[in-house]
Amino acid sequence: MRPIRRHPAALALLTAVALVTAAAPGLPAAADPVPVTVVTGDFEDGTTQGWAARGGGETVAVSDAAAHGGTGSLAVTGRTAGWQGPSLDVLDVLEKGTQYTVTAWVRLAAGAAADSARLSVERRTAGTAGYDQVAGNTAVSADGWVALTGRYTLATDVDFLHVYVETANTTGSFFVDDVTVSYVPALPIQTGIPRIRDVVTEFPVGAAITAAETLGVHGDLLARHFTSVTPGNALKWDATEPAENSFSYAQADPLIAYAKANGLAVRGHTLVWHNQTPAWVFKDAAGAPMTATAENKALLLARLENHIRNVAAHYGEDIATWDVVNEVIDESQSDGMRHSTWYTVTGLDYIRTAFTVAREVAPHAKLIINDYNTNVPAKRDALYNLVAELRAEGVPIDGVGHQMHINVGWPTVAETEAMLQKFAPLGITQQITEMDVSIYRDSSESFPAPPADRLLSQAYVYRDMLALFRRHADQISSVTLWGLADDNTWLDTFPVTRKDAPLLFDTSLQAKPAYWGVVDPSRITPPAASGCSVSYRVTGSWPGGFQGDVRITNTGGAALAGWSLSWSFPSGQRITQAWNGTAQQSGADVTVTNAGWNAAIAPGGSAAFGFLGSWAGVNTAPAAFAVGGTACAVA
Ligand code: XIL
Repeated sequence: MRPIRRHPAALALLTAVALVTAAAPGLPAAADPVPVTVVTGDFEDGTTQGWAARGGGETVAVSDAAAHGGTGSLAVTGRTAGWQGPSLDVLDVLEKGTQYTVTAWVRLAAGAAADSARLSVERRTAGTAGYDQVAGNTAVSADGWVALTGRYTLATDVDFLHVYVETANTTGSFFVDDVTVSYVPALPIQTGIPRIRDVVTEFPVGAAITAAETLGVHGDLLARHFTSVTPGNALKWDATEPAENSFSYAQADPLIAYAKANGLAVRGHTLVWHNQTPAWVFKDAAGAPMTATAENKALLLARLENHIRNVAAHYGEDIATWDVVNEVIDESQSDGMRHSTWYTVTGLDYIRTAFTVAREVAPHAKLIINDYNTNVPAKRDALYNLVAELRAEGVPIDGVGHQMHINVGWPTVAETEAMLQKFAPLGITQQITEMDVSIYRDSSESFPAPPADRLLSQAYVYRDMLALFRRHADQISSVTLWGLADDNTWLDTFPVTRKDAPLLFDTSLQAKPAYWGVVDPSRITPPAASGCSVSYRVTGSWPGGFQGDVRITNTGGAALAGWSLSWSFPSGQRITQAWNGTAQQSGADVTVTNAGWNAAIAPGGSAAFGFLGSWAGVNTAPAAFAVGGTACAVA
């Protein structure tokens, strides 16, 4: 099979078809469009299906020495550098502004030392190259196949666009198989519901953004509901001054221009942090890690001053609020301060310098000290003491930023109110800077799809917290959420990798119960007692045959005691064998019932089964699934 390449016009047509399908009677409401696959690489036809060597002498060829599905794969041999490997031209395939899921299975050749592999995109615009990581370093070996998978949104105009696989440390040979690039067609945003900005008028309401949030329907949703934005990464030190005194605004400038064009306020995040700061900042004059000497202190403060003078001056009045320092408190230390290199080398002087220089360069701007867990009494009190001390000295701190990365069970409204009240006597402003409400109560939980009862709890948290903030509007000058919609949230990989859903709009940009919690709590809908989500994946494919894996997730509020899942095959496929479930097929219609050991599915839990099937011509995935007659979302 050739990789499927579609031009943007064809993509638009497919989107329209998928939307019609999603809106058909009997299928779930607009929220669940079917994924569209735009690249498949199974290497079963004896060709490399468009893949070629990145360059430098390595060989990329079809091989039957190993296969993830079927009998063929892509073998990469003769490498002399980690960057060498297979690459596929996707210039005519990927559309700007669409979020794709990219997957490639990788296995090292026999005898190759274990390593890490990663999946990236190289893009060029008029000769300038940029590299985007899709799936970060993932352990690989010769012992088995490993999936490299990640999401990718092309955010700029390009004249060269390749997907490639490379290794981190060694140059051994490896195999690649079963590559897919797919996307879930965007749904139109809802225009018949209130704008958040029209309902919450006490303070600007913002969202953290990357370039992807400013494009297409994402941009429409953002500008429709919000009055402020915070670039989530683009203004951090590693983006703005990657090498000493070499400033780059390529990431942030388009975001600030978007904000200006749409009349959105901008919060600048952040001038000083211990994370996402390049290593050179903390190296001494000889290039060794800085120790606490007078010379290093002078050097570090000079670098800090130069950084703030340049970055804050570049944006001038376009940035009306700065998170000047971020996360400087560590309440587990006896002095209450985070012992970062900033602190061990300069003491409190880096904070004094940062605010003083920021005030000088950006006299119009509100200057904020920002931190997380400020509802925890010990941390809150340490922050309070620091701000009180520095303000008494005359350090120009205008306000405290509460990140508010919280979850459905923590903290209480009372604790959050105590947090706000603690800072009131200082007469400073307070801002909610990075709010999101994880559906998880702790790091051990993981749901393939958000359970309805968690979405309901989340709606109540948003309702109660927003009501609290509005009651304290005299002290609060901004409330920002750390993202626009659940299709792009940092919580998908923090503190562990799992799908989270912490924001007001779902992965299809549709309003969640949490949105109604903010906008009109009387319209929070109780969770359906039953609800399901199904993921259907072809995990291997060869001429005439294929292997499928299916996972059912109980998204309802009640446990399932047993299940039967039904679907129709659209292109003549037939199941020949199933495991972890019993399959029956009549014509195109399939029903799989549970095995004894996977009959019960708790709310949020899931059950999986697999099967072997036959196919001819095309192997189109079923578009709709039902458990016990109730239509399921397609994940
Ligand atoms: C996060 C970003 O959202 C991620 O994309 C990045 O990989 C890590 O940083 N507190 C902060 C933010 O102050 O800067 C962090 O943002 C989230 C926690």
